[in-house]
Amino acid sequence: MEEFLTEEAQNLFKKIQNEFQRPVSDKGEALAYFCGNSLGLQAKGTSAAISEVLNDWAELAVDGHFIAGRRWYDYPTLLTPSLAKLCGAKESEVAAMGTLTGNLHLMLVSFFQPEGKRTKILMEAGAFPSDHYAVETQLKFRGLNPSENIIEVFPREGEDSLQTEDILKAIHDHSDELALVLFSGVQFLSGQAFEIQAITAAAHSIGVKAGFDLAHAIGNIRLELHQWNVDFAVWCSYKYLNGGPGSVAGIFVHERYASDNSLPRFGGWFGHDESRRFLLEKGFNPILGARGWQLSNENILSLAAIRASLELFDLVNPDLLEKRRNLLNYKLQEIINQFQEILTITPKSRGAQISVKLRTGNEKALFAHLRDNGVVVDFREPGILRMAATPLYTTENDISKLEAALKTFFRGQ
Ligand SMILES: Cc1ncc(COP(=O)(O)O)c(C=O)c1O
Repeated sequence: MEEFLTEEAQNLFKKIQNEFQRPVSDKGEALAYFCGNSLGLQAKGTSAAISEVLNDWAELAVDGHFIAGRRWYDYPTLLTPSLAKLCGAKESEVAAMGTLTGNLHLMLVSFFQPEGKRTKILMEAGAFPSDHYAVETQLKFRGLNPSENIIEVFPREGEDSLQTEDILKAIHDHSDELALVLFSGVQFLSGQAFEIQAITAAAHSIGVKAGFDLAHAIGNIRLELHQWNVDFAVWCSYKYLNGGPGSVAGIFVHERYASDNSLPRFGGWFGHDESRRFLLEKGFNPILGARGWQLSNENILSLAAIRASLELFDLVNPDLLEKRRNLLNYKLQEIINQFQEILTITPKSRGAQISVKLRTGNEKALFAHLRDNGVVVDFREPGILRMAATPLYTTENDISKLEAALKTFFRGQ
């Protein structure tokens, strides 16, 4: 597989693979890790990046905010060039802040404006529960009944993923009652990559805004959020961004809203005009751009961990990253296809993740067998195994290990 990459690219990826910590079994053997869709691996630079902040804290205490080598005051902005690149956005359109679900609430406050007959939110059926809870509670908060105001788009009978034409049709069918379209970029369970640009265009054609949950998309699929005219997006950084458990999340807000003070929003002091932040005055005056939604000073230890991983992303151009992701995915699919007991539910439109079921229904047994054989995938009810070969750190050796474990499970050899 690597032979499809130039020697220079192969060397680059080898170097980057060595920059990640590998989880080990209780026997001390390196595990083949396919769970980057859930929690990315730790970059080796993470300890040093966090230690730097700890040392500054120890030695400078409160002065760390302003005179540390990497000042805490601006630390989130250190991440914006890399995040903007991964999102296909301008730097002013992204902010490292908060948590995914918290940020989704902030975005709904600004971009969900029910009016008259237009009170409904269109989502994919089976959206991540937290998104559903956010939408349900936002509706209730505005005195609307969730069971009447969420429109879900379902896969066709017997199918596991959505057809783009069905999503677009649903948007048009509900054109006079929708107030927002909210979709994920990559579906967390099926691994389907949605056509963000087409969904956004359909929403705009009926005068409705479109927002996206990119938890499984950022650092995974190619994004061009600015050019696609996406209104807003939110993400977490503990999956493909390898930022560590519960790490600081992020938002994208299209630049056309940068100075739109007509948008309702919840404010906090870190979204306030920086030049006046410490004047302790009243009257919220948001920073222009996505940072105007930031509420608080962020967790610097967490930002340091994300920075360590983003430095590795910065070493690879997006085309090359996509190429290796596709090569790994092709190889993984080829292996899965050797076993007729395995049914792939991820459609062709996908990122790094492949989700499968077993025709025999014993997914939990396979999950346990893989784990016993040093291969980490994840299991999700109702019987789906998800595995992601991530371009930054999955190796051919990891894939061979998975193949060997599948053979012993299905063929006993
Ligand atoms: C698709 C998706 N959306 C939202 C969330 C919730 O993220 P958080 O707990 O960081 O708010 C997750 C978490 O895994 C997710 O996978």
